[in-house]
Amino acid sequence: MWQSGLVAMLLFVSSQNHAGTEADVTVHGDRPGPIIHREIYGQFAEMLGRGIYGGIWVGENSSIPNIHGYRKDVVEALKAIKVPVIRWPGGCFADQYDWRDGIGPRDKRPARLNASWGGEESNQFGTHEFMDFAELIGAKTYLSINVGTGSPREMSQWIEYITADGHTSLAQERRANGRDKPWKIDYVGIGNEMWGCGGSMRPEFYADVYRQYATFLHSPNDTPIERIASGANADDVGWTDKVMSIAGSQIDGISLHYYTIPTGEWTHKGSATHFDEAEWMSTLQGAMHMDELIAKHSAVMDKYDPKKRVALVVDEWGNWMDQEPGSNDPALYQQNSLRDAVSAAITLDIFHAHADRVRMANIAQMVNVLQAMILTDKSKMVLTPTYDVFDMYKVFQGATYLPVDVQGPVYRYGNASVPGVHATAGRDASGVVHVALVNLDPHQADTVRVRLSGIKGTSVQGRVLTAPAMTSINTFDQPHVVEPKVFDGAKFGDGVLTVALPSKSVVVLDIR
Ligand code: AHR
Repeated sequence: MWQSGLVAMLLFVSSQNHAGTEADVTVHGDRPGPIIHREIYGQFAEMLGRGIYGGIWVGENSSIPNIHGYRKDVVEALKAIKVPVIRWPGGCFADQYDWRDGIGPRDKRPARLNASWGGEESNQFGTHEFMDFAELIGAKTYLSINVGTGSPREMSQWIEYITADGHTSLAQERRANGRDKPWKIDYVGIGNEMWGCGGSMRPEFYADVYRQYATFLHSPNDTPIERIASGANADDVGWTDKVMSIAGSQIDGISLHYYTIPTGEWTHKGSATHFDEAEWMSTLQGAMHMDELIAKHSAVMDKYDPKKRVALVVDEWGNWMDQEPGSNDPALYQQNSLRDAVSAAITLDIFHAHADRVRMANIAQMVNVLQAMILTDKSKMVLTPTYDVFDMYKVFQGATYLPVDVQGPVYRYGNASVPGVHATAGRDASGVVHVALVNLDPHQADTVRVRLSGIKGTSVQGRVLTAPAMTSINTFDQPHVVEPKVFDGAKFGDGVLTVALPSKSVVVLDIR
């Protein structure tokens, strides 16, 4: 968890001050960078609030249309954005989870207290339900295992239960519970936030515990499991340094958690829907801070891993606002506005620019929790503006990163400022170049000249996401207020692409 310290300086409200209305973006097709790993478009689904129950899982006997218990509408929506990987079951929940509670006949599973988030955990959604869900939507699997209150033995037995072929008792138990073939686990997180809810450990101690767990983590021979160490809270590069120095050789990825809190205060984080321009600005500054964080952690990792074998895995990120007022929801239900879309686009751009080190990321969270893709209310479902960005940006999954230079206006509010225009680019396997442009300024449209260096493009098409207000949201009654539309504001002329970029918008162009 992290709180932004950026807000104090935003308390002044100055008159709007716009330094310009034009920007120049150069896309370097002649200097291709690394692959943008699909997994940076990953998601996080924790056993909390209505993230799983009601959001993903309604059970086979529900009147809500479902596929073997999974909401049909949610499954279809997630398939459409090509979710590459899902992290489960936590979060803080993971370090108190006993996997044995979630296997076997559902009517025999024990209810437990959800000590992390309140209420009771029915365990109706367990290992089989998670692994089948990932299979259903075509996603890789990322299991967070219990280090805080578990043991290496519990971990290795869980992994054997899921992945063993042959005739061991655990493989037979899985078969008796209805799954013949082993599943594939792609990633295992060895604990979560071990500096906090995972056990309040010091990095030296955790690094030794990590080594112990990593020793007993046995991958099936033909399908190696990547081992992700529990990493730092935001700016805490000291954690990354210690863990890398002590356990680096046994680590495949080390995580980073970073949330943007508009006010910078946990006791009053700021409303997801009723905010002013100061909080628009502080949220976008919070998103921009990801760039500095990745650079700092990556530099520390370079000391121990100059060839960048170890990935930086940003397995929790997003905007954390006050819980939706008046809702009866349990934990962490928040609405999602155009502001979330713009900040998500900035963050994804930053991941692209660090694609050499950032090879997985998992937005928090998938459904009904924090900066969600999808909100549900009984049988109703609505796609959020953040979903729309993941939909528009899916063309970057697996593309080759193309460096971009941006020269443009500065967007200022009070004493705060951010670049007015943010951009990213990639070339997909079929040769199509995709360019995303984000206008951070809520008032000022921009004319963006896009120079395509080493790219032979003659035709352009695209989509735009914007809305009447910074605070525009989709609701169950009005689900189409913020949604992508065909964009006709980009034109080729004299070898330059000129783009009329609306204020507070995200545009993704396909150039052929
Ligand atoms: O995403 C919600 C919580 O935030 C997670 O459980 C925890 O890891 C983090 O602090």
